Amino acid sequence: MNEFGYGSAPGKLIISGDHSVVYGQPAIAIALDLRCYVKAWKSSSGLIIHAKNLGDSYYYTISELQNLQKTETKFTKIDGIALGILITLGKIKPEIAVEVNSDIPMSAGLGSSAAVAVACIAAVCDLYGINISNEKISEIAFESEKIIHGRPSGIDNTMATYGGMLVFENGNITLQELNQNIPLIIIDSQVDRDTKKMVSSVAELKEKYNEINEIIRCMGNVSRAVITSINNGNLKSLGDLLNINQGLLDAIGVNHPKLSELIWCLREAGCFGAKITGAGGGGCVFGIAEDAESIVSNLTISGSIIITNASLEGVKIGR
Ligand code: PMV
Repeated sequence: MNEFGYGSAPGKLIISGDHSVVYGQPAIAIALDLRCYVKAWKSSSGLIIHAKNLGDSYYYTISELQNLQKTETKFTKIDGIALGILITLGKIKPEIAVEVNSDIPMSAGLGSSAAVAVACIAAVCDLYGINISNEKISEIAFESEKIIHGRPSGIDNTMATYGGMLVFENGNITLQELNQNIPLIIIDSQVDRDTKKMVSSVAELKEKYNEINEIIRCMGNVSRAVITSINNGNLKSLGDLLNINQGLLDAIGVNHPKLSELIWCLREAGCFGAKITGAGGGGCVFGIAEDAESIVSNLTISGSIIITNASLEGVKIGR
């Protein structure tokens, strides 16, 4: 056993296909060059989680850990991490401490909880010298995501584990080659979002107006064209398609005045295209641009702006 174990994993961004994916159309996600880092070591008893971005430090006694595996318990984000560690070790007495440091904004649709789970699993395996496959890491993180999110799609744990790009369609995930930088500017609107509420509002609209079906089909075609423009390394056409997709998202009612304002700021500052990512109604918007640094220097808004890129690197076990 090592004195310390280390692991890290990336966040993710849905480039295209938000909402239409619920109706069987493809969604495209990429891993981000924003990571969660975890250090693990042996504690004298129980399980200790130190996580500044999640509040502070949490301690689980053995009986609390046993309760975690009972379905009637109400779970928190930290519980999801604890469950991931428990499953990884395959025992109820983990005697372990983890320290979590994440570059990924929380609760913003950027896959932070899956990245934390994957990085914890990696750090614990590094500490104990456990040999683990990527498939198993993603599977355990999916269990942890289920207790936090209810019915996750599996996009977040897959991206955190494998990195790169994936297409999610009709419940199937396919990893795709990504041989292209995608320079991104992400802005967190700081407006709360509620994925469940947004998904139901689209369902209600679709119930009332048949025309929504056409829009959803159109979103699917846009997503297919997005894959082609990424494969061809054509950022200009990718930007056009993101703008078209945003118009369609607006049409199904998942925009918000603050998101619109940020999207227009990004476009006017020179991004090839900009849209919401995820459920909308709040959360993050993103733009793509060749020279993100100079675009950000032209932005007139204050707030949390992140410059990043797509990343091929998935989970890393060790430093
Ligand atoms: O809000 P997020 O980032 O978790 O993304 C939700 C994406 C939706 O397409 C709106 C819903 C879904 O389950 O795919």
